[in-house]
Amino acid sequence: MDIPTVANLPIQRFYPRKGAKLSHSTIGRRNEYLPSHPVQRPTVQTHPSERRLAAESLPGSLSCVKFTRLFRKLSAGAVALGLFSSALRAEGPLDRLTALAAGTADTTLRLDVLRGMEAALRGRNGVSAPAGWTELETTLAAAPDEETRRLARNLGTVFGSPRALETLRTIAANPQAAGADRTAAVDTLLRTRDAALVPLLQKLTAEAGVRATAIRGLAAFDDAKTPSVLLAGFPQFNAAEQRDALNTLASRAAYARPLVEAVRSGAVPKATLTADLVRQLRSLKDTTLAADLTQIWGVMKETSPDMKAEVERMKKLYWAGGSQPGDAPRGRVVFNQVCSQCHHLFDTGGNVGPDITGANRADLDYLLQNILYPNAVIPNEYLASTVETKDERVLTGVIKSQDANGISLQTANELVTVPRAEIRKIEATAVSMMPEGLIANLTEQQIRDLLYYLSRPGQVPLPAGTK
Ligand code: HEC
Repeated sequence: MDIPTVANLPIQRFYPRKGAKLSHSTIGRRNEYLPSHPVQRPTVQTHPSERRLAAESLPGSLSCVKFTRLFRKLSAGAVALGLFSSALRAEGPLDRLTALAAGTADTTLRLDVLRGMEAALRGRNGVSAPAGWTELETTLAAAPDEETRRLARNLGTVFGSPRALETLRTIAANPQAAGADRTAAVDTLLRTRDAALVPLLQKLTAEAGVRATAIRGLAAFDDAKTPSVLLAGFPQFNAAEQRDALNTLASRAAYARPLVEAVRSGAVPKATLTADLVRQLRSLKDTTLAADLTQIWGVMKETSPDMKAEVERMKKLYWAGGSQPGDAPRGRVVFNQVCSQCHHLFDTGGNVGPDITGANRADLDYLLQNILYPNAVIPNEYLASTVETKDERVLTGVIKSQDANGISLQTANELVTVPRAEIRKIEATAVSMMPEGLIANLTEQQIRDLLYYLSRPGQVPLPAGTK
């Protein structure tokens, strides 16, 4: 019997692709599931009932999986995954996994089963609790290790357990709890889509440790108070939090109107409204908003017929700066404002677009063509789609994966899972996730600084005093 390679196992589908942004809940565990080189490991003895359970639940091709310590881990996930294959939709296997976790004295096995259940149920909500869950949950809440307790809370949330929800709310609201625990609690609560969560999220935007998660989470709810809460806190947010706030405000027309007003009044600096946000605001298809944007931001220039001439014009502008046209540290600041949320460069940055550290950056033509005309050549995996939800939220992003439960969308600032039941419409666009007009609102010197920084072989320090 052959051991299938790890790459063949369906568990992979539950993990973001290499290079994708990881959510808090997946960081740290992914590597356990995905060893870099699948090697044959010694078979360990497994309980006959466990083998039978796995053999029954796994898709046919995998039922020959030999149980090794490694594969036992994977199989727990795979067993749970089997639940959702069409042949096995009945809730039965979930009851049996719960019974398995409750009945075993082997805490490692119990942990494996819980991990598997969690992986399989990720992104799901309102699943009816399996038989015996309440009793198991009580036992797990008293487990000595935090991972078991955390998995119990996460699964409890999926099953709508009042106990799990209460514990999570307490952790989220507790300023004494560790920032990472609070963030994880908010992340899990967000999956319940419970509107009762909104006042807590709004309150948390005032607390540095959990602020970013709370701000992003607010985008999922239509609440009249959210724009004023975010706009009032805006000056205290750091640059990344400000971008999260702008993305949340640009996510639905009802939030975007107060945002545009704030830009008009100067409360939110016009320069923070980058091209990707303007494009997102336009995708809301609200006519008043579109008119306001044109007034404030100007018309978005569509791909100019004469790319070559435009590149030449920008090259002239660059060299007009002298023999050293720009300042690298200042250029890094510009990069952080308009590019780094999507691109990794040197040692930092996002993963929405490709890592550009190894790109042909010393070539000014290459840089300008890609910055000015992102739509000239677009690899398929970077085509943007817009997703409209039934509660009027519009998301723009790259679809990373989709299945019967929902889709996972990489937006400009987060990896979002949108449940299928909430989607009204998905529209593929013919444009790159990288917007046009990114540098249209920069000053000439900022453009020189940016290009100069981009052409450097390595990282430079930020100017003194930069936040
Ligand atoms: C909203 C996300 C986003 C922002 C903001 C963004 N980019 Fe991009 N960028 C992408 C994506 C996605 C691609 C790949 C698809 C394409 O080429 O259009 C890309 C491609 C590129 C490439 C070509 C990479 C290659 O593989 O050759 C360069 C160079 C680049 N971007 C530079 C920049 C610079 C400089 C900025 C800031 C002025 C910027 N980008 C801002 C998403 C973004």
